[in-house]
Amino acid sequence: MTQSKLELADPVSGKKAELAVHPGTIGPSVVDISGLNKAFGAFTYDPGYGFTAACDSKITYIDGDAGVLLHRGYPIEQLAEKSSFMEVCYLLLNGELPGKAELDTFKTSITHHTMLNESLLRFFNGFHHNAHPMAMTSAVVASLSAFYHDSLNIHDPQQREVFAHRIIAKIPTIAAAAHKHSLGQPFIYPRNDLDYCSNLLHMFFSVPCEPYEVDPVAAKALDLLFILHADHEQNASTSTVRLAGSTGANPYAAISAGVSALWGPAHGGANEAVLNMLEQIGSVQNVPKYLDMAKDKSSHFRLMGFGHRVYKNFDPRAKIIRAMCYTVLEKLGSTNKPLFELALRLEEIALKDEYFVSRKLYPNVDFYSGLIYSALGIPRSMFTVMFAVARTVGWVSHWAEMISDPAMRIGRPRQLYTGSPRRDYVEIAQRSR
Ligand code: ACO
Repeated sequence: MTQSKLELADPVSGKKAELAVHPGTIGPSVVDISGLNKAFGAFTYDPGYGFTAACDSKITYIDGDAGVLLHRGYPIEQLAEKSSFMEVCYLLLNGELPGKAELDTFKTSITHHTMLNESLLRFFNGFHHNAHPMAMTSAVVASLSAFYHDSLNIHDPQQREVFAHRIIAKIPTIAAAAHKHSLGQPFIYPRNDLDYCSNLLHMFFSVPCEPYEVDPVAAKALDLLFILHADHEQNASTSTVRLAGSTGANPYAAISAGVSALWGPAHGGANEAVLNMLEQIGSVQNVPKYLDMAKDKSSHFRLMGFGHRVYKNFDPRAKIIRAMCYTVLEKLGSTNKPLFELALRLEEIALKDEYFVSRKLYPNVDFYSGLIYSALGIPRSMFTVMFAVARTVGWVSHWAEMISDPAMRIGRPRQLYTGSPRRDYVEIAQRSR
């Protein structure tokens, strides 16, 4: 696939390096820097990996300047309008949209893997009632490997598929169990007659003492949110899954590492942080004060749900979710309308502010998603878990792509060493301290 070469010369030593340039299908090319060390004895330096492609991938494409997001080539706007989360899962995993029979078979397989081993379900009782649901989720996902030994051989494509279907099917059951444990309510078993999102709502909100009807508006809204969160190329949690998986660790352990990476407020934890921030701001009059805090480098306050490593234009997912807020908050009669109004005003004011304009800081996917989760009755501490449920398919697709690549190597970054040079050990009696 090499199309051109880049020549680099060190003016002092006169040494030269010829580096291969690989073109992508669309988007920027990458320079293969493996020859750099041989020629100059140097490594590249890119803290935060802002300019480093760690792999090649056929799954998702983002053009951050144009605000474009494609899954397997299909624009997110079209998938959001016309597809379903189950179909997007199939697409991400298999590379093509399914035929009707393929989709039915896939859905049946997912539906029949939703239950958790009873012993695993009892793990939740070991957690204190106020444990953060992300702590329970990452622990229980890692523990799946202790129960499902028939899907741990990463070199067997059939076992990889069993793992993929199983984790996508069980993650809503795990999320719901974490929620029920926090409430002190009995766990609710999955229902095979419901679709993926309706079943999740059933497991979240049913109680054994009275019937529960899933609201189709809520199920549709959740399905759309899940489509928008399903994958996002090499983000921090996906890269974590790839790195953990590259050691040959079992896939449940790799996904659990991804759940942990997602938890941080700079990544998936932002949806929870946005609602806390909106409540803290309280009213439009306070917006300038909080914008000043966000601009003040000596304060740790950032405008949550704003900014993105890749998007330097509108996050296309944020546009869709903002439009969705109008209909969902209207139809579900949410008490969150004043917070939505505040979010709209905050966005408007920030997007006219020189600080945010010059840094190309726009609302990201999670600026508005918490408002919708909240309107669905999902508590704030569960928002990032909902993100993890949706992103599981993305993690699995990337893990599977990496494992099935014969050229896979363990992920092992290098460093610029800035510590002490070599020195000799000093006996404790001779040390000055
Ligand atoms: N509020 C205030 N200033 C910001 C913000 C923000 N939300 N985001 C970035 N900046 C500023 C930085 O301080 C920096 O300013 P400087 O050039 O004067 O030093 C500049 O914008 C560039 O920001 P970086 O931190 O270099 O951007 P980076 O790509 O490393 O970080 C990130 C991206 C983590 C998303 C950041 O914008 C942020 O913390 N946003 C708030 C948290 C958030 O919403 N995270 C969700 C991201 S989407 C997702 O993961 C689902």
